[in-house]
Amino acid sequence: MTSKISGNRFLCGFLIAIAVSRNISAWVLAPPRCHRPQHVKTYLARGEYEDSFTMAVSRRPVIAGNWKLNPASVGDATTLLKLLHANFVNHRTESESSDVEVIVFPPFPFLATALTALEGSGIKVGAQNIGLQTTGAFTGEVSASMIRSLGVDYVMLGHSERRLLFGEMDTDINAKVRLCLAQPGLCVILCVGETEEEFESDLLESVCDLQIRKGLRGVEAMDIERIVIAYEPVWAIGTGKVATPEQAQVAHVAIRRTLTAIYGHKLASSVRIQYGGSVKPENVVDLMNMPDVDGALVGGASLTADSFTRIVDGAVTGPLRHTRPIELSAQECVSTKNVLGESPIWSVRDQALYWISAPEEEVWTWNMRDPAYRRLVGTQLGCVAIKASDQPGTIVLAGESAFLEIVMAKGTRDFGTGPRILCERPEQTDVTRPNDGRVDRQGRLVFGMYNNYHRTPVGEANVAGIYRLNDNLEVESLLDEALKYRVSNCICFPATGDKMFFCDTPTRKIYSFDYPAENGGKLSNRKLIWTMPSNLPGGPDGAQVGRFSGSWMYDRTIGSLCC
Ligand code: PGA
Repeated sequence: MTSKISGNRFLCGFLIAIAVSRNISAWVLAPPRCHRPQHVKTYLARGEYEDSFTMAVSRRPVIAGNWKLNPASVGDATTLLKLLHANFVNHRTESESSDVEVIVFPPFPFLATALTALEGSGIKVGAQNIGLQTTGAFTGEVSASMIRSLGVDYVMLGHSERRLLFGEMDTDINAKVRLCLAQPGLCVILCVGETEEEFESDLLESVCDLQIRKGLRGVEAMDIERIVIAYEPVWAIGTGKVATPEQAQVAHVAIRRTLTAIYGHKLASSVRIQYGGSVKPENVVDLMNMPDVDGALVGGASLTADSFTRIVDGAVTGPLRHTRPIELSAQECVSTKNVLGESPIWSVRDQALYWISAPEEEVWTWNMRDPAYRRLVGTQLGCVAIKASDQPGTIVLAGESAFLEIVMAKGTRDFGTGPRILCERPEQTDVTRPNDGRVDRQGRLVFGMYNNYHRTPVGEANVAGIYRLNDNLEVESLLDEALKYRVSNCICFPATGDKMFFCDTPTRKIYSFDYPAENGGKLSNRKLIWTMPSNLPGGPDGAQVGRFSGSWMYDRTIGSLCC
């Protein structure tokens, strides 16, 4: 293996030496027949692609969702659009929103609905096709001007399904590209890509080269900024077979070479090239790390709001592109076989861990020595928090029908008595049930709620919130009305008590608020502090602040409790 790589290096060095001497460095810097991954890696390691195409050029990533012939009804489309809207509005910093261009391509009948539903979200709307005519007796056709007049910003052309299933030829595609460009402001995603057979026969480059040359015939240099190229190897579409990042990089470089031949180096360097074919939250980051991959055209994974949102998060190149968190390993594990173990909290006073088993209506504790034990409570539980008290084992529980105080310590007088009801649960209007909470520095329970969006994603008014049980044991809202979340989770305070961290689980974003002691202590000054990397599975579902005030998260995908 080592000798193979060094052999390649030697060969490359040799070629470069010849090329420079013959003044054909551009050819060698992006050699035409180099799609074998070991070659690509060698070139990438040497930074040669960057030299040839990407230095000094920054291209804004573009993520597009191709809904194809989905979903089945306008009702289902509206649900998906509302969830997307909820994931984007209020959950992105300005820089995050402008760092990446996001477009969805619903079927024609849903375009107007999409434009209305996504207003203010920053997500653009595109059409999946247009007809070849502009007006007249062409029953069943749709024109570029009709699309543009609705407010649609993009049209997707040349998708392999149109080429292979509907017999669209490069000449048709080219005519449609030009019809779109005749509409001021309308942009085009031009899809190209080879079949499996062509890939196996090493025809990737020549197929893409021809499709681009024919597709862009007659397109002026001044219009090239309105073109995005989507490289979609046909063998990767809807198959789950994704091209390796290196394969995608090589194909994109080949495409950029064709663009260079037509439009020159400067313009070719500015064109954005997306990769398409089985893009998922788990693979988008590696693809986007390639210098010539400028975005993704997503099919199946764009039909779920949360996976599409995670793909967009994975494409953000700014400060929110976080590395994976450090994984803590368990020193000791107890298996409790809980159906849904949630809301773990460590009590320094009791030297014990508390958690709940939500549907089983049980609260559990473990002191790290004796076997874990539990207590049945009589209401479905949302969270457990430690109550400030001299009496060991005193905790607060937020349940589906009431907030309770209970003493869990074995051997205390109260262990045999029932829980004390602090207050009935708040009216079930916008929110469903308490979900996560902690006691603040004044000993008041601060808790987040699920909302109905999370369960049945309809209804505008349903927003999750953050609430507090005040000193009179009344529930008060702590959040600005304008902030909308789907699930408020992972609530925790640092030791100073003057901040609060929490997370919106579906969007996997963690925020901090100032939580001042004065003036009743409402939450203010929200800051987005972390987006969970898109290649990590699950969603954050519980948190505590660590010794250094960094929050510790745990994930709902972890089956048993680890301490
Ligand atoms: P896929 O489709 O992501 O489901 O593979 C991609 C596309 O056809 O655009």
